[in-house]
Amino acid sequence: MKLGIPKEIIQNETRVALIPQSVKKITSKGIQVLIEQNAGQAAYFFDENYKEAGAEIVKSPMELFASADLVMKINKPEFNEKADEYEINMMKEGSCLVSLLQPATNVDGIQRLVSRKISAFSLDSIPRITRAQSMDVLSAMSTIAGYKAVLIAAANLPKFFPMFMTAAGTIAPAKVFVIGAGVAGLQAIATARRLGAVVEAFDTRPVVKEQIESLGARFVSFDLKGEKTEGEGGYAKQLSSDSHKRELEFMAEQIKRFDVVITTAQIPGKRAPVLISEKAVLGMQPGSVIVDLAADMGGNCELTELGKDVIKNGVKICGPINLPSSMPMHASQMFSKNMESVISLLVKDKLLNLDLNDEIIKGALITHQGVVLKEDIKHLLAKVH
Ligand code: NAI
Repeated sequence: MKLGIPKEIIQNETRVALIPQSVKKITSKGIQVLIEQNAGQAAYFFDENYKEAGAEIVKSPMELFASADLVMKINKPEFNEKADEYEINMMKEGSCLVSLLQPATNVDGIQRLVSRKISAFSLDSIPRITRAQSMDVLSAMSTIAGYKAVLIAAANLPKFFPMFMTAAGTIAPAKVFVIGAGVAGLQAIATARRLGAVVEAFDTRPVVKEQIESLGARFVSFDLKGEKTEGEGGYAKQLSSDSHKRELEFMAEQIKRFDVVITTAQIPGKRAPVLISEKAVLGMQPGSVIVDLAADMGGNCELTELGKDVIKNGVKICGPINLPSSMPMHASQMFSKNMESVISLLVKDKLLNLDLNDEIIKGALITHQGVVLKEDIKHLLAKVH
């Protein structure tokens, strides 16, 4: 069986799906690994390193996609200008694709996969069960985003994070507020604490109170009047419009007290909830910083602009894009480790073996043998076509 790793083609992407260390393990199992030339270069993994690990370097994307039985990549397939072709169209009919497919917002891509009879395994659809933890790309990348958000805040804040007692006087520690305490939020709390800030955090799911406190931060309570806030798989549910309105007002009162606000609130498959209004920003002290990790899902702050720093009344609002790509070495290493586990799930005795009764495969396999397997995506396709 041939596993193909193409070079990522979206703008500013620096990660690669597999690093040489993993190639070594995979080839030792008798799987042939093809790597597109310079695929790992931006993450400091070079063709020489891949060759030494046992991979074959392939010159063009055409050649790579046409020979691979299983393609693993980070971003969903796109139009490749170098080959003047869509990545999916270059794939072998009946082959398998593993990537972050975002099926709910990628209807055209899913349609293409169906017509090429590709078996498409979407990494963002893996059920979050214990057995799938080693494949959880979303958690791995959120860990990086949470960490990096704090570094961005610290670099932009015109103040220290830690407390200092110096001959030039005592410096008070920065006050940081983290909104949304999922994987990224908890990592942001831990990183801000390591830098010496005083941290408080809020989430609509009450179960995270203990997790926030165990990291040395204070949980900010807000009365949700008994509303059920947790849905399937431990994810948050969208709040009722009344609770959302009250949360907006509550946040406006709270954020005045902080130097830094890091927002990470998301609802799977939906636009991120707006939790900080323009009026709330105007209430903050000039020099404060907001880092909006939900920027690519519409933003948690009303003033966020994707990929830009906006300054309003002296408050800087950062809306970073693809933070994992700013740390490509470790991001690729973590992604690659996740891919090793996905390969163990999908490949048996050197051959692709998609057990449609397996809970993880059932959750993440979106298309197979020319049909859409997931009901919700089937409905979406029917609506559009
Ligand atoms: P996410 O990226 O979808 O959301 C981030 C956070 O935003 C969540 O904690 C959510 O509760 C919060 N949020 C949503 N709306 C909000 C609002 N209006 N106000 C304040 N906060 C709001 O979530 P993520 O980080 O991917 O995972 C969330 C949870 O999923 C984890 O905390 C955990 O319970 C579960 N999980 C389970 C795994 C497993 O293998 N068992 C692995 C990873 C996550």
